[in-house]
Amino acid sequence: MPRLVIDGKTVVAKEGTFLLQAAREAGIDIPTLCEHPAVEPYGGCRMCLVDVTRPEWDGWSKMVVSCLFPVEDGIIVSTKSERVMNTRRVVIDLLLARCPNTPLVQKMAAEYGIEKTSYVQNPEPTDCILCGLCTRVCDEMGTSAISSSSRGAGREIAPPFNEPPPDCIGCLACAEICPTGFIKYETSNSKRVIWNKEFEMLRCPTCGRGHITKAQAAWHDGKVPGRYFEQCDACKRKAQAAMAVTLMGGSQIR
Ligand code: SF4
Ligand code: FES
Repeated sequence: MPRLVIDGKTVVAKEGTFLLQAAREAGIDIPTLCEHPAVEPYGGCRMCLVDVTRPEWDGWSKMVVSCLFPVEDGIIVSTKSERVMNTRRVVIDLLLARCPNTPLVQKMAAEYGIEKTSYVQNPEPTDCILCGLCTRVCDEMGTSAISSSSRGAGREIAPPFNEPPPDCIGCLACAEICPTGFIKYETSNSKRVIWNKEFEMLRCPTCGRGHITKAQAAWHDGKVPGRYFEQCDACKRKAQAAMAVTLMGGSQIR
């Protein structure tokens, strides 16, 4: 297994893991904005940059994104070198210009001692930090209903032509993974609205709660056994627990 040094600590990492994961498993924190265990790493935000060197490199080092850099035996990693910290400050400074009112960005800026952006502030502040988590989770679901559009300061996440996206199934994966709460939706027992698209809800026959959109249930049809989605998760768990108690000869859960 690769043996490396991170911030002076010797770490034995699992073969095939990335530096970010090895550092986390060793209790060393590296900031991230575009990484999430539900999606493949993408290397977009640059917050997880670290310095990597080797004894035979004679003091030379390179900056790499730790979420995409595979661990190697013998490397020496610094997660807080001066140039790493300076680069992260530039990333946050730029983000603060784009998203000056976003609590997550404000918190990170405060952590890095940035009170005010040194760039021209976005005249139309947004909470979208362009981490790409929403589009990636949507792609990994297999629906690819949303994407990024435009370039530069005007880049945004939106459905095609800003119309209700035909491929969206209302699963809320994008809204739930979004770290800033940019993606808004409304949901009730009867209907859900996201990306200006309205969905009818499938109600649990046991408790009556609208727990999934009919479009999502239809999309999963054939991929999961039988009528899996009819009953909500809470009622399924309750029924399973009651069955387990019955099988063990105990009293039913009510
Ligand atoms: S909408 Fe949210 S998840 Fe999507 S890119 Fe923007 S901040 Fe990231
Ligand atoms: S977390 Fe690695 S580049 Fe964003």
